[in-house]
Amino acid sequence: MAATKKKLRVGIIGTGGIAHAHANAYKQFEDVEIVAGADIIPGKARKFLDEFGWTEATAYETHEELCARRDIDAVSVCTYNSQHAGPTICALTSGKNVMLEKPMCVTLDEAKAIRAVEQATGKFVTVGFQPRYGANVKKVKEVIDSGVLGQIYYVVVGGGRVKGIPGRTFIEKDKAAVGAVGDIGCYGLDFALNSIGYPKPLTVSAKQFAYFGKNPKKYAEADRFTVDDDFAVAMIRCEGDIVIDYRASWAMNMDTTGDSLFFGTDAGLKVKAPVGCCWDGAAGDLILYQDDKDGKQIATEIKVEGNNVKMGMFESKIRAFVDACLTGGPAPIPTSQIIYNQAIIDGIIRSNACGHEVTIDL
Ligand SMILES: NC(=O)c1ccc[n+]([C@@H]2O[C@H](COP(=O)([O-])OP(=O)(O)OC[C@H]3O[C@@H](n4cnc5c(N)ncnc54)[C@H](O)[C@@H]3O)[C@@H](O)[C@H]2O)c1
Repeated sequence: MAATKKKLRVGIIGTGGIAHAHANAYKQFEDVEIVAGADIIPGKARKFLDEFGWTEATAYETHEELCARRDIDAVSVCTYNSQHAGPTICALTSGKNVMLEKPMCVTLDEAKAIRAVEQATGKFVTVGFQPRYGANVKKVKEVIDSGVLGQIYYVVVGGGRVKGIPGRTFIEKDKAAVGAVGDIGCYGLDFALNSIGYPKPLTVSAKQFAYFGKNPKKYAEADRFTVDDDFAVAMIRCEGDIVIDYRASWAMNMDTTGDSLFFGTDAGLKVKAPVGCCWDGAAGDLILYQDDKDGKQIATEIKVEGNNVKMGMFESKIRAFVDACLTGGPAPIPTSQIIYNQAIIDGIIRSNACGHEVTIDL
């Protein structure tokens, strides 16, 4: 008789909004068993587990109790941002691999602490940037990796929403800690940095704005809006003489933050702003700008088949985590990269506070 293949035993920490997307993805995989859930709101984890038919799974009210279970192999950390580092470090020290929702955490010190525990325990953390699994985003990387652009020296990246302040726990500073820049903004950073090979950031000059979220005439929940921004811009210098010109939006009197642009010494690549101006879903169409043999600039559309819908990307990110757990790693979206993303967010906040360019200390 064939031996039954061991299933990956997973716990979900934080059973709010995005935990449902994790659950929907895990549910499709026969080699995964959800054995526990934890949420600090009494009864919330039980209700969540029952909703998915996981009535045998145990519900906890602290992440520590879930992490203490020795029969759990891996966890999804789906808590709000200010509660990313604690549960992640607890899970790693308890011998579990971690699928951590974006942004990685809220400070650079937290990111460094996560990295240190990861290295000490030999367990891994992957960070939840599902757009990486979209066909257009993959194509951008493929085109850039082919070398056709030559040396990349300037990247323009924007993202976010026209009028889309998310509300809920995203606007409360004690829970979200960071506003648009940490929520929607980390996607644009990951897109730009991952496309060009995650160069090390060196300095940041940035400004954050909150003209919509804090104004009761423009936003109904303004009294709850305690995060620092609903719009932010930054100029980021990276190793390799690369400059990233960046913006992130939850709200603006504009229809787009613009197309994403990669300027290279041999060619340029434009990624049209997707409908709704968002970077947490599919990226837009691609256009390559190159000179012909007579020096005339030619624009070539790059057609990409099967740009994933959001759920396809989400399943792919969870599947990649499961596969990495089952095969012993490495992390599909490693913290060795995402610490640079977090360092830039940290730099944006510091630069905004002091009003001038700051150096990134990594
Ligand atoms: N990848 C994506 O597409 C995507 C989309 C939305 C949100 N997110 C990210 O997911 C995270 C959660 O967002 P959300 O919308 O689900 O928020 P949410 O507020 O709906 O859910 C978070 C849950 O975590 C619980 N919680 C907080 N601290 C806890 C702890 N220490 N232990 C156990 N439970 C705890 C809260 O009680 C809450 O139920 C955020 O970091 C957000 O940026 C990612």
